[in-house]
Amino acid sequence: MTDAEAKPAAASHVDVTHLVMPSDANMLGTAFGGMVMQWTDLAASMAAMRHARLPVVTASIDQLSFLAPIRIGQMAILSAQVNAVFGTSMEVGVEVVSEDPRTGERRKCCDAFLTFVGLGPDGRPTRVAPLALATDAERRRDREARARRAARLSLRDALRAP
Ligand SMILES: CC(C)(COP(=O)(O)OP(=O)(O)OC[C@H]1O[C@@H](n2cnc3c(N)ncnc32)[C@H](O)[C@@H]1OP(=O)(O)O)[C@@H](O)C(=O)NCCC(=O)NCCS
Repeated sequence: MTDAEAKPAAASHVDVTHLVMPSDANMLGTAFGGMVMQWTDLAASMAAMRHARLPVVTASIDQLSFLAPIRIGQMAILSAQVNAVFGTSMEVGVEVVSEDPRTGERRKCCDAFLTFVGLGPDGRPTRVAPLALATDAERRRDREARARRAARLSLRDALRAP
């Protein structure tokens, strides 16, 4: 893969909006954590596929903290973008905010980092196009993603150990 084939990080950007319905919610009238996780995984996978132009699988999801609930009738807005490409894998960052449709007030609900692996026609991991970083924010996200990758692979090795 040459640098000429690198793709802009911004080209992977995906925005997804859900209106939180009663079927998405718990008995408190706020979105289930598992539902927000599903929306997060889906938004992130679309950013990964948009970059790689390959089928992808989720290899890992870093720790998730839910900072604020999203109530029935509010919108959950997810923004996902590839932060870094390693070899066959890439890290995608997702930010989830709530929006009250009546007032427009927005609150940050959660940040997540997910790793996806691109799969070739044989179903095996295959190299993903490099990422072209255009802004200071993109370069910072790439740097931070590389530090997180080291921690995540140590954890994977510990989990694999007999
Ligand atoms: C993820 C998976 C494809 C890795 O396959 P593997 O045979 O272990 O392949 P490798 O060890 O060569 O790893 C492939 C890439 O995944 C990365 N990877 C593997 N496990 C990882 C983890 N837990 N966290 C982060 N990255 C991981 C490796 O670092 C490597 O990336 P690189 O090429 O950029 O260095 C395989 O474990 C798998 O299919 N897991 C199940 C995925 C799944 O079902 N997800 C949920 C539904 S989508």
